[in-house]
Amino acid sequence: MTTHRVTVQPSATVIHCRSDQTIAEAAAEQGILLSIGCDNGVCEICRGEYLDGDFIFRNSLGEALLNSDNQILCCVAQPQTDAEIFMSDVHAPNHIPDVTLACQIQSVSPLPGNVWQVELLAPAGKQADFWPGQYLLLTVTTATGEQTLPYSIACAPGSISGADSRRIELHIAAGSDTANDVIQFLQQALTVKVTLPFGDCIVHPDFLRQQAGKPLLLVAAGTGFSQIKSLVEGILALEPERELHIYWSNRQQDGFYLAELPVSWAQQYPNVHYHPIIEQHSAGWHGRAGWIYQVIHEDFTDLSDIRMFACGSPNMVYGTLDQLEPLGLTQDNMYSDVFAYAPR
Ligand code: FES
Repeated sequence: MTTHRVTVQPSATVIHCRSDQTIAEAAAEQGILLSIGCDNGVCEICRGEYLDGDFIFRNSLGEALLNSDNQILCCVAQPQTDAEIFMSDVHAPNHIPDVTLACQIQSVSPLPGNVWQVELLAPAGKQADFWPGQYLLLTVTTATGEQTLPYSIACAPGSISGADSRRIELHIAAGSDTANDVIQFLQQALTVKVTLPFGDCIVHPDFLRQQAGKPLLLVAAGTGFSQIKSLVEGILALEPERELHIYWSNRQQDGFYLAELPVSWAQQYPNVHYHPIIEQHSAGWHGRAGWIYQVIHEDFTDLSDIRMFACGSPNMVYGTLDQLEPLGLTQDNMYSDVFAYAPR
C-alpha cells in the first residue's frame, strides 16, 4: 500500500497517509489533532482548503465540496498522491509555538574552515524552547537593509541536555556576502532578534518511543553538521544506548570544523559510530572518500529498518535518497528540512 505525504499549511505539519486511509484516520494514528464531528462528510467541521494533489472520497459529499468550493473534507478524503491542504490551527504533536526573543550575543568565535561558532542567550527569565534538530530565524541589519535568515540550532535544548536552558549555539559558514554581513553584524551588535523554533526534522521522546530499537543514521554535509550536533546531543541525553551512525562529508579536510567532537562521542559511547568522509582522497587523509551514499552502501545491505536524518543541500538529500532506495531507504523513513523547503 502506497503512503503519501499530506502537508497541512501554514504549519507545514506532515501527515503520512496510506492511499486506503482518510486524512482524519492517518492524523489520529499519528496523534495529530483535527476537528472531527460526524466522520461522514456531513457536518463539514473537518474541511480544509485544497492546494494540491489527487484524492478519492469515501462518499460523494467529499467530491461535491471539492468541485463546488475547492474544499477537502478530511474525514472522507483519501490522498492518492502527495498532497497539500490549508487548515489553520493544525499542529503536529509536540509542537512548540514560535516566539521572538531579543537574545544577547555571548560570543562569535572562529573555527577551522571559515566557520564561526555563535553563542546566544535568551533574555533573563526566558528559555530557548525547541526540539533537537530545529532551526531559527535571525533578523540582522546589514548594508543592504534588514534581513531574516534561517540557521540550524547547533545544540540540544537545555531542558533535555541539562545545559543552560537560555543558550543557543549556531555554526555559520563565512564566504558569501550575506554570511559575511551576518557575522560582521553579530560581532558588532549586543543583541539580535531571534524567532524560534521551526522545522519538523526533530527528535523528541515520543519519536524515540515510536522508533524503538531502530538504528538512526545521521548524515551531514558541511555545516549541516550543526543540525546533526543538536540531534546527537538530544538523542544521547534522552536514550544514550541508541545505535547511531554519523556520516559527515566535506569537500576538504578543513571542513571538519569540530573534528574532535564526533570522535569523542564514538569513544564515549560504544553504540555511536562515526564516519568522516571527503569527496576525493587527498594527501594526509586516512579516512573514507567518495559520495555519502557510496560509503553508506559499503556499510549496509538493507536500510528498510533504519531511520535517517539528512542535513545538507537538496541535491545531497535527494541524491542520497535516490541512490539508496534500492537498499530500502524511503522518504517516509528519512527526515530532512529539505522536504519542506524544496519539495520536488
Ligand atoms: S467530520 Fe463531519 S464532515 Fe468531516
